[in-house]
Amino acid sequence: MQPKNKKINAAITAVGMYVPEKILDNKYFESIVDTTDEWITTRTGIKERRILENGASSDMAAYAIQDMLKTTNVKPEEIDVIIVATVTPDMFFPATACLVQEKIGAKKAWGFDLSAACSGFLFALQTGASLIESGTYKKVVVVGSDKMSAITDYTDRNNCILFGDAASAVLLEPTTELQYGIKDSILFCDGSGKDVLNMKAGGSLNPATKETVEKRWHYIYQEGKTVFKAAVKGMADVSYDIMQKNGLKPEDVAYLVPHQANLRIIDATAERMGISRDKVMINIDKYGNTTAATIPLCLTEYYRGGKVKRGDNLILASFGAGYTWGAIYLTWSID
Ligand code: UT7
Repeated sequence: MQPKNKKINAAITAVGMYVPEKILDNKYFESIVDTTDEWITTRTGIKERRILENGASSDMAAYAIQDMLKTTNVKPEEIDVIIVATVTPDMFFPATACLVQEKIGAKKAWGFDLSAACSGFLFALQTGASLIESGTYKKVVVVGSDKMSAITDYTDRNNCILFGDAASAVLLEPTTELQYGIKDSILFCDGSGKDVLNMKAGGSLNPATKETVEKRWHYIYQEGKTVFKAAVKGMADVSYDIMQKNGLKPEDVAYLVPHQANLRIIDATAERMGISRDKVMINIDKYGNTTAATIPLCLTEYYRGGKVKRGDNLILASFGAGYTWGAIYLTWSID
């Protein structure tokens, strides 16, 4: 809810995206693990996902930002801050944000990586909005970029069918037209989810050893059913709660913009909010779960497809590893 004395909102003023060319369809997975196109489609909604063959998360992030900047008069050197939401940084350090800064030539920017898995974009968007609302920064880039293929075990049928690679970016700028921009957020993290969705090794708890590699601890581990149940409850509740908190009825919401992990989680969220499928942004069929990139990817595709208009109220919602989850209420401001 807007504080009464608020003078500036942070608004999304440009969007951009990058998806790699290589496509892995469900038929391909039938050839590498014991699965079927029918199982994947009915249990997840996924038909295809993209795979980055050369390069890393910083490359995809840079391409997405460049794609975004092409649509504006903003030059890279005008960017104040770059926030990269990712769980697949190029390296532990330096931060991917530094690599992106160099690749796009953002000569005056500072930046950092934000690790919140599938909620990374929402956490980064709220962080970026707060930097704008402080009055200190005028141009903040928030980019979600994940090369999930780098941490996916392609012998594990439970997980390998779910994930893909992509990046997508938004530009945040201040607006004094308070009817537009980011209006409210409800965000959570709960470390009790750590045992059911994680990548165990490579960090300070389990540094890389021959044993960690043999145990396949450098890949995503997920207990799907447990996470599914938590996601349905977490994402649906927080989406409903942000509507209640802001006095929004289903007819006031133009779109739910959900994290794309599973079409059944998305449907449960929309049902709880009382909104129909045609008011839900969905592209999981084409890209699978691209972690921090799913939500801005939806925003970019629907905006470019002419489906989002200035003044539309959007509810962005996510659930992911940590657990992390939340919702953001914003009013679209790009013509
Ligand atoms: O984005 C981060 C947060 N993550 C999520 O939100 C993901 C949440 N979880 C899910 O989306 C779902 O739990 C999955 C899609 C991962 C799995 O769907 P499910 O309906 O929960 O299936 P399940 O894990 O309960 O498995 C049902 C059956 C099992 O066989 P049995 O034990 O009943 O004989 C699995 O072994 O389906 C089997 N199975 C598969 N069968 C064919 C699991 N993966 C596959 C597969 N192909 N790829």
